[in-house]
Amino acid sequence: MHVGIIMDGNGRWAIKRGLPRLMGHKRGANRVKDIVKASTELGVTTLTLYAFSTENWKRAAHEVEGLMKLFRGYLQNNFIDLNEKNIKVNFLGDPTPLAADLREQMKKLEELTKDNTLITLNIAINYGGRDDLVRAARKIVDKVQDGSLTVGDITEQTISDHLDTANQADPDLIIRTAGELRMSNFMTWQSAYSELAFVDKSWPEFTPRIYAEVIADYRRRTRQFGAVIPKSAEIGTKV
Ligand code: FPP
Repeated sequence: MHVGIIMDGNGRWAIKRGLPRLMGHKRGANRVKDIVKASTELGVTTLTLYAFSTENWKRAAHEVEGLMKLFRGYLQNNFIDLNEKNIKVNFLGDPTPLAADLREQMKKLEELTKDNTLITLNIAINYGGRDDLVRAARKIVDKVQDGSLTVGDITEQTISDHLDTANQADPDLIIRTAGELRMSNFMTWQSAYSELAFVDKSWPEFTPRIYAEVIADYRRRTRQFGAVIPKSAEIGTKV
């Protein structure tokens, strides 16, 4: 099962308590470990965390810098632990505008954990669903131009195979914390048939217990992927 989380509400959590927004992000970063652990216990095999969008650069410079510092700190503090816990870390998004040392750490962690099997942790940094599609389009056009792919060969699978999530299943469930009812450019292609869950608690308040309730609620839903699946009682009845 693949779960994506839009970790929203750090800023509001802090402001409500008279704290600077960055304190909210710090609390948010502390939540990550619990939720990754809970994911492994709840049968989640891929967890995608939306940490920084392609639009988040528009925030005040000190907030962007603070977030980058948090990512750096998270990687430094959890580098060994993530590997020892058998977690495979994968980064989604375009790393090009990130600081060279951060990019280097990200690459090293991906390389170190690439054969791990307990859970895949996708961390989306400088990620946008539309940007993912633009970058995929460029890769596909390159292949058409060098002759390794023909236009007629392009299918939905071709698009999926050139996104940052190539070789991964689409998210079954996308959770957004803090009450806003929108997708904010998260996994635009991959979310076509995802179930959605909007939670009123902010990300710093999103406990493993609330997470378990959201997953339990998801498991009670019936997914049809556009088809009409008859209820078992209806099978064999005359229409
Ligand atoms: C949205 O809250 C949250 C973010 C833009 C940043 C998410 C980052 C973290 C949780 C920190 C670290 C993550 C990792 C993977 C180490 P917001 O600031 O938009 O909140 P608001 O809507 O209340 O202002």
